[in-house]
Amino acid sequence: MDFSKRLLDWYETEKRDLPWRHTKDPYVIWLSEIILQQTQVKQGLPYFQKFIKRFPTVHNLAKAEEDEVMKLWQGLGYYSRARNLHFTAKYVSETLKGKFPDNFKQLKILKGIGDYTAAAIASFAFDEPVAVVDGNVQRVVSRFLGIHTPINSPEGVKEFKTKAQQLMDVSQPAAYNQAVMEFGALHCRPKSPKCMFCVFQQDCAAYQLGKVEELPVKLKK
Ligand code: ADE
Repeated sequence: MDFSKRLLDWYETEKRDLPWRHTKDPYVIWLSEIILQQTQVKQGLPYFQKFIKRFPTVHNLAKAEEDEVMKLWQGLGYYSRARNLHFTAKYVSETLKGKFPDNFKQLKILKGIGDYTAAAIASFAFDEPVAVVDGNVQRVVSRFLGIHTPINSPEGVKEFKTKAQQLMDVSQPAAYNQAVMEFGALHCRPKSPKCMFCVFQQDCAAYQLGKVEELPVKLKK
C-alpha cells in the first residue's frame, strides 16, 4: 500500500474536527492559515472564531478600521500578519471585487501569502494538486524517506518541496494536505513520536535505521 493511501486512512480515523476543514471558502481558509502561522491550533482557534464572527466575509474585514483588526489580534504576536491580513482583505474586496485568485501562482502575488499559504488555499479551496510544505511536512518527509539535508538550507528547502510533491496524492489534494500536516502535528511529533503505533513502521527509513530522533536536521544559524 502506498504512502498516501495509508496516510489518508490514518487521517480518517484520527483527525481533529476543526472548523476550517468544513469549508471551501477561500476567505475562511486564508484567515485560518494566517492565524495558524507560528501558532498552535489550541491558541489560534479562539482567534479564528472571534474573527469569523466579527468579519464573516472579506468585505467586512476590508471595511474595518485598522485599530479594530489590531485589537482583535492582540495576544497572537507577529503583528505584521494582522497588518498584511487587513491590507490583502482591502485589495481582494476592492480591486478583485471580493474574488480570491483561484490558483497557486496568482495567490502568491497577494501580500502576506507565501508558498505555504498559497498551497494551502489552492488545495483546500480549489483542489489544485500542490503540496503544502511546513515544518510538520518536512519532519514527516525527512523521517519517512531518511533525508538528512538540513530543512533550513537552500538545498533542503528545494529537496523537501520536490519530495513532498512526489509523495502527494494528486487526486485528493485537500484531504491529502490536511492529512500530512495532521500526521506531523499529532503522530510524527518532534518529541516522542508515536512510532510504536505507526502505520509506516515497515516503510519508514528513519525508523528502520534507528534515526527518528535525529531527523529532521536543522542548522543552527
Ligand atoms: N496549522 C496550519 N494549518 C493547519 C490546518 N489547516 N489544520 C491544522 N493545523 C494547521
